[in-house]
Amino acid sequence: MTVQPSPAQLKPETGTTPVTVARGDGIGPEIMEASLAILEAAGARLAIEEIEVGEKVYKAGFTSGLTDDAWASIRRTKLLYKAPITTPQGGGYKSLNVTIRTGLGLFANVRPVRGYAPYVPTYHPDMDLVIVRENEEDLYTGIEHRQTDEVVQCLKLLSRPGSERVIRYAFDFARLAGRKKVTCLVKDNIMKLTDGMFHRCFDEIAAEYPEIAHDHMIVDIGAAKIAVNPERFDVVVTPNLYGDIVSDIAAEVAGSVGLAGSANIGEHGAMFEAVHGSAPDITGKGIANPSGLFLAGVEMLQFAGQGEAAARAFNAWAATIEAGIHTGDMSGPETKQKVGTKAFTQAVIARMGEVPKKLKPCQPSKGAVPLPPPVRRVPEEKVLKGVDIFVEWRDGTEALAAILKTAATEALPLTLITNRSAKVWPNGLPETFCTDQFRGRFEFAGTGTAQDVIALQSRLVEAGISIGKTENLFSFNGKLGYSLAQGQ
Ligand code: NAI
Repeated sequence: MTVQPSPAQLKPETGTTPVTVARGDGIGPEIMEASLAILEAAGARLAIEEIEVGEKVYKAGFTSGLTDDAWASIRRTKLLYKAPITTPQGGGYKSLNVTIRTGLGLFANVRPVRGYAPYVPTYHPDMDLVIVRENEEDLYTGIEHRQTDEVVQCLKLLSRPGSERVIRYAFDFARLAGRKKVTCLVKDNIMKLTDGMFHRCFDEIAAEYPEIAHDHMIVDIGAAKIAVNPERFDVVVTPNLYGDIVSDIAAEVAGSVGLAGSANIGEHGAMFEAVHGSAPDITGKGIANPSGLFLAGVEMLQFAGQGEAAARAFNAWAATIEAGIHTGDMSGPETKQKVGTKAFTQAVIARMGEVPKKLKPCQPSKGAVPLPPPVRRVPEEKVLKGVDIFVEWRDGTEALAAILKTAATEALPLTLITNRSAKVWPNGLPETFCTDQFRGRFEFAGTGTAQDVIALQSRLVEAGISIGKTENLFSFNGKLGYSLAQGQ
């Protein structure tokens, strides 16, 4: 397989990395100044282009939060180091992160979470895991509909190329970072087609990395284990929604939400930022902790192939934490000196070249993680098997069945009616609560065509049925591409 080189692979360690820097809103400018000062003192070679993003830009009428010039810079450097921004209240503004994520095709969100005990109190001093979250698909595509008075839906879309790409990234990341195991979290005991496909992709790709152990857990028990036994995890890969939830659980139990940085990696660029927001309540007070944004900057240097500078910067920061020099939000029993943003920054710079004694030091990465391109496959043989028709109805199941049967034919008979997930016809249970939306399933006795399905819909409309949505049923290489209802 050919892999597209990341920006780092195009530049040697001695080169300078062009990077677009956004100082953001609130505490953003304070912590960005601090972070850049530390990274540069560590020897980072960054050719910085500054852009303005966030509140001011939104209010100037750019609903995406980005000007055309800012976009041009990001497209040029393909690397964005972004401080938090304030999203203005009220409608009409689009999330800047979504704009950047979709614009740059940022398919993987990478969030390292580790404990810094005893300097940051945690029950899990040995936890050190990296969550790789799929970033473009799943329920987060935001395709939602109100279908009837009572029923709304959100579509969960997973693709094979999207799943394979993020899983392969997780394994390549593990390989490069010298990590030992990748764990897949999904709920494929219930969502057999969507999460089942993600799990299958995981098993297939895991086989290509025999030196890395792999396992799989159902996401609910996986999330519980991250909360109580995070030390058992190394790299975790999971679809978008689960990833969102488990990365917050992990950061919370590490005791270091404020120290978490996040990387968004994609085909057309990458973005590095802190997990926290713009903290308007402490803006301008000089007390903000720059560590979250700084640690994201360390990840950025590793990504950009500047592993030596990344390790030097991290180790000086860790030595400062060990010396008990903490910002207010980090202070606890181990704090010897509570300092503001500037003094903290100076303390880290003064320790450049030191290595932490208790905390695990950072090793320079051996390069950048290759970016797997989406892989296209030979399409499978797709055969139309029938149609699910979702209708609005309030007058009882048997009356609905009678009308649906009159519209059905011998070639395309009604085989099932469900309400939410429960089968209500034939042989439904009288106790089942029914909403105002039913699904009628019609399956071809032999073979059929799309015209047959459309003709069926016409007959239903003529019979006074209100159709909200239809979903064609297919098989792929002889395997059904749709779930069977319970008892079907
Ligand atoms: P927040 O993370 O800004 O603040 C929550 C609490 O944590 C506050 O008490 C704050 O003082 C404290 N805090 C946050 N970062 C800190 C730091 N570095 N040092 C010391 N204390 C820190 O969350 P909040 O208040 O809900 O959101 C404020 C604004 O930030 C909102 O407009 C929100 O939309 C935006 N936001 C932006 C993000 C981004 O740009 N990636 C992410 C999250 C929120």
